Amino acid sequence: MSHTPRKILVTSALPYANGPIHLGHLLEYIQTDIWVRFQKLRGEHCIYVCADDAHGTAIMLKAEENGVTPEQQIAAVQAEHETDFADFRIAFDNYYTTHSPENQALSSLIFERNKNAGFIIEKEITQLYDPDKGMFLADRFVRGTCPKCKTPDQYGDNCEACGATYSPAELIDPYSAISGARPVEKAVTQLFFDLPRFENMLRNWTRSGALQPEVANKLAEWLDAGLQPWDISREAPYFGFEIPGYPGKYFYVWLDAPIGYMASFQHYCNAHGLDFDAYWGRDSEAELYHFIGKDIINFHGLFWPAMLDGAGFRKPSAIYCHGFVTVNGAKMSKSRGTFIKARTYLDHLDAEYLRYYFAAKLTSRVDDFDLNLEDFVQRVNSDLVGKVVQIASRTANFVKKFGGSLSDELDNPMLVREVQEAAPRIAEFYEQREFGRAMREIMALADHTNQYVQERAPWTVAKNEGAEAEVLRICTTAVNVFRLLALYLKPVLPGLAERAEAFLNIEPLRWQDHSDILLGHAINAFKPLLQRIEAEQIEKLMEASREAAANAEASKATDTSTSKKESDVSDTITIDDFLKVQLRAARITRASHVEGADKLLQLTLDVGALGERNVFAGIKAKYSPEQLEGRMVVLVANLAPRKMKFGVSEGMVLAAGPGGEDIFLLGPDSGAEPGMEVR
Ligand code: MSP
Ligand code: ZN
Repeated sequence: MSHTPRKILVTSALPYANGPIHLGHLLEYIQTDIWVRFQKLRGEHCIYVCADDAHGTAIMLKAEENGVTPEQQIAAVQAEHETDFADFRIAFDNYYTTHSPENQALSSLIFERNKNAGFIIEKEITQLYDPDKGMFLADRFVRGTCPKCKTPDQYGDNCEACGATYSPAELIDPYSAISGARPVEKAVTQLFFDLPRFENMLRNWTRSGALQPEVANKLAEWLDAGLQPWDISREAPYFGFEIPGYPGKYFYVWLDAPIGYMASFQHYCNAHGLDFDAYWGRDSEAELYHFIGKDIINFHGLFWPAMLDGAGFRKPSAIYCHGFVTVNGAKMSKSRGTFIKARTYLDHLDAEYLRYYFAAKLTSRVDDFDLNLEDFVQRVNSDLVGKVVQIASRTANFVKKFGGSLSDELDNPMLVREVQEAAPRIAEFYEQREFGRAMREIMALADHTNQYVQERAPWTVAKNEGAEAEVLRICTTAVNVFRLLALYLKPVLPGLAERAEAFLNIEPLRWQDHSDILLGHAINAFKPLLQRIEAEQIEKLMEASREAAANAEASKATDTSTSKKESDVSDTITIDDFLKVQLRAARITRASHVEGADKLLQLTLDVGALGERNVFAGIKAKYSPEQLEGRMVVLVANLAPRKMKFGVSEGMVLAAGPGGEDIFLLGPDSGAEPGMEVR
């Protein structure tokens, strides 16, 4: 059968280079990887590329916090991401970074083509600026009191307490989340991509049938609400690519991120002598698919196709969107131990269990996805160990015992035929990303086969004199079904398939091999192919996840005061650590309310030889300023000064208690003098 392979290019969204891969991300990479492996197994020409998303303010600040350069930061994270992906058997053909020369060249090209076509406009806008840090502030780096419900400490664009959305300029008492300074409004000219000019094109494209109905509806809503020009430039300091012709301006990270798909592919083409334009040219016949999560539909369904179109490139054939992972029915939670990092999972469990569970529950829809850990254990044990592997484990030893070769005939050719004939149905489910239905089909075949083995009971037949040939025929039937099921599961369970191939003593299985039957063939000794999951392993995994989250918190707490990452933070400190804290007696000489602060009082302290200190203390619920003047307190005198939105706090006054009204200022003995050491 000759077949011209399809030319397919597939991507998964590019993970940010400022944090580890977790189980939520993995839903996407596993979903994509299964689909790609299926295409390759079928002999299609399918290429899977991805990269780290390395630019933007968040990554720049993360590097600063870690005391490294952005380049060092992204290199370290990329190395971690690549090991995690490899250990989950995500088989990229190329994994790259958006901070690459290819991406810079392509981003500049796409920008300039759009500019020459008149799709880039300049507009003067006012933006919030952090005068202390000397940088413009993205919405989420501005915090303040919600203009609607007055809850303090909310983000610049939405309130976590009442759900209101607003612009950062509307916040009451806004302050920079980076320096604490009060932001000022500053006029600046920015570059905008003229998205409204693409409305017609986008309406046609979203209705072309290439999108899931939920996604098409969402896009139609946005189109109906009216498109706005999209701000694509950012001012220095910014970690990204400088915009050609605009010194000091940088491409917004979301401009060059999707171009990173192209750049990673370009890199692959250069290494493998492949024609880039055959995939990205306007009349390309190649298929192009982006797998993404539902939170980034606007970028992939509006901006990206428009930018490509404006620059004379082809648009994606389809966008395949999935929902969000919850664990045990709730958002992943650090305190519950359900915020599980890829690495923590791998420390406790085999990657293939998760690959199977995700496959068993995935559909082609955008619904959220619950990873129920009890169901996970039960499902993996009963399907993979109890159904699939069991077919081989109950029969293989008889083959070994009676000569080591399969018979020349099947005991039940009808059963094997039935399993072979399921191939096109299963293939169609894979193709349509209905992995759950594919898994159910496969498990039904396994059930059927186990019933057959149970009925024919080779272990009983073997007791009869001269029944060797019959036992071999039964076991050859079972082993053939096992071979087919291992093949059907190969996109999901590449490791199991490899172990099955070794046991069966065969070449790597390809999809078309489902039409063959293995007869008169010597096989190898059977070794256990997969272990059961024990409930205990899940407990340990969650415990380790809780600990990892707590350690990360602890290291964050040290970060803010030392602004340098401690490499081994644990819960305990040594006496030497404790002795570094300078505790001094201090007298409150003045106490006053702070305009706009619900919890804080401003204290002026006399610290003797150390002079006078200004400190903000969160004790307003309990103490009034009048109660405090003249009172002696204990001061942490060597705390690094901290800029708060009301001013600089030069130390910390010690108090004990759970907070609010139950807080008690600590005072030294009555004989203490300001400035005295009080340990
Ligand atoms: N860097 C951007 C994507 C740029 S693509 C040109 C980004 N990165 S991310 O690290 O936040 O997310 C990467 C992918 O993982 C996204 O598709 C996102 O939807 C997906 N997921 C992240 N957390 C997830 C869950 N909890 N559940 C399911 N998918 C999730 O977005
Ligand atoms: Zn609010």
